[in-house]
Amino acid sequence: MNTFQEAPALQERPDTKQDIHLRPPESTDGAPVHNLIRKSAFLDDNSLYCYLAICTHFANTSVVATMGDDLVGVVTAYIPPEQPDTLWVWQVAVDKAAQKRGLASKMLDEILSRPACKAVTHVETTVTADNGASRAMFDALSRRRDCGIEETVMFDREDHFLNLHDTEYKLRIGPMKPADNQGEKS
Ligand SMILES: CC(C)(COP(=O)(O)OP(=O)(O)OC[C@H]1O[C@@H](n2cnc3c(N)ncnc32)[C@H](O)[C@@H]1OP(=O)(O)O)[C@@H](O)C(=O)NCCC(=O)NCCS
Repeated sequence: MNTFQEAPALQERPDTKQDIHLRPPESTDGAPVHNLIRKSAFLDDNSLYCYLAICTHFANTSVVATMGDDLVGVVTAYIPPEQPDTLWVWQVAVDKAAQKRGLASKMLDEILSRPACKAVTHVETTVTADNGASRAMFDALSRRRDCGIEETVMFDREDHFLNLHDTEYKLRIGPMKPADNQGEKS
């Protein structure tokens, strides 16, 4: 039996003009987050349990976007214990029907505006060489925060992935200036 029913593709629905709301994930978001990730190009599909754990333990540094009853966006992220100044962004996904409207950027900014990110000055992530949309999204973040991006190999195709996955390049973005509309973090 297939445990996971695919959510009906949002792009086939007539009404995609509803307001989009952002909020921290809850444990019950694990399954819809998993479905969205499974529908997204470029992203590795991890176990449902993994998304349940992320939505439970890293809610303060992750976000989901909903449109009516549909989950249309997610950023999973955490602050590595030994790097309290860094938000590590693991996966970002936006449903095709909601892409290229600034949603991914809004989700990243929303997380960075939270008290949990008060000490965060840098964002790190990994991207493959061919993921233009992801690179454009992080380039846009560096422009909004008026800072640079350092790029280095993090997980190498041969050394880490046994030739089963393309090299993942680490992007380190920062030191970031506060967003224009953010002011002082509380
Ligand atoms: C990457 C992704 C999350 C972007 O979501 P989005 O909501 O469409 O992004 P935004 O509208 O906030 O755009 C952010 C920036 O990226 C640019 N961008 C977005 N999609 C792009 C694309 N396909 N090609 C080139 N640039 C793109 C936008 O123009 C914008 O730049 P700007 O501010 O200079 O105009 C989305 O394409 C996606 O879900 N892709 C599949 C999963 C993935 O690759 N995730 C990232 C790796 S974890």
